[in-house]
Amino acid sequence: MENAISINGITKSFGEKKVLDDINLDIKKGEILGLLGPSGAGKTTLIKILTGQLEADSGNSVINGKDSQRLTGRDYSGFGIMMDNCGLYERFSCYENLKVFARIYNISDDKIRAALESTGLADAGKTPVSNLSKGMKSRLRLARVFMTNPKILFLDEPTCGLDPATADEIQKLILREKEKGKTIFLTTHTMTEAEKLCDNVALLNEGKIVEYGSPAEICRRYNHQKRIKIHLTDGTEMEILHDESAAEIISELIKNGSAETIHTTEPDLKTVFMELTGKELSQ
Ligand SMILES: Nc1ncnc2c1ncn2[C@@H]1O[C@H](COP(=O)(O)OP(=O)(O)OP(=O)(O)O)[C@@H](O)[C@H]1O
Ligand SMILES: [Mg+2]
Repeated sequence: MENAISINGITKSFGEKKVLDDINLDIKKGEILGLLGPSGAGKTTLIKILTGQLEADSGNSVINGKDSQRLTGRDYSGFGIMMDNCGLYERFSCYENLKVFARIYNISDDKIRAALESTGLADAGKTPVSNLSKGMKSRLRLARVFMTNPKILFLDEPTCGLDPATADEIQKLILREKEKGKTIFLTTHTMTEAEKLCDNVALLNEGKIVEYGSPAEICRRYNHQKRIKIHLTDGTEMEILHDESAAEIISELIKNGSAETIHTTEPDLKTVFMELTGKELSQ
């Protein structure tokens, strides 16, 4: 399948500090790629380079078939960007905030209303941003991105600072965009979010991609212990080695009705990240 984004050998330093060191990644059309990494890993820097807001020292990236260091005005309508710090006009209403951008991109009022509707803000069109909850502000930032109907979305920590229920709403909106065939490049600190949303994740640590793959694939790769955990009907649990002897033990437990649940014990992404970097990601 064709790549929506292709990143080839991107390197970037700020002064003496090498923030990105030879980053290579391909993101297929229609895929959600999650870039994971602790604070300061270089996630926002990479998004800025991919979207032409910052120049790389070396390497190149291609987005929608165009070199991202040579984008011109019209190319920007092909993708939408939601940065963690992108501001909203507090005294303007939701509608007015979208209208400011709609003028730049020549977007009709119908599309503004559709964007408010699709993000659950139809009733808040006239509400000033200063009166919105954090979750509503996040939805308005997304409405601004969705409004231009871009093929590729860059979302920099879209659920940062939100409670789990509100984060869940935002994640559903993101998945809906994927269903429409959009390509999504998102950054997150949260492993559970990555497991829920992403087709593939890249773990970024100290400027390098230290692991890449689907969340399940990565977790299987780090399953050193290969054990099976069995909860028994008497409330106790046992762990057995995942080898040829397991079949007989499990079969016996099922026959005599004493096995309640049976699980393999792959680590989760959080554990893998700890093993790779020695650091914990904040939730
Ligand atoms: N314009 C700049 N000038 C100098 N240093 C910078 C600049 N922008 C970023 N940095 C540094 O580059 C490193 C990576 O920053 P970046 O914002 O890309 O990290 P991040 O992974 O997005 O972190 P967070 O999860 O906190 O958003 C940090 O050490 C930061 O201080
Ligand atoms: Mg950042």
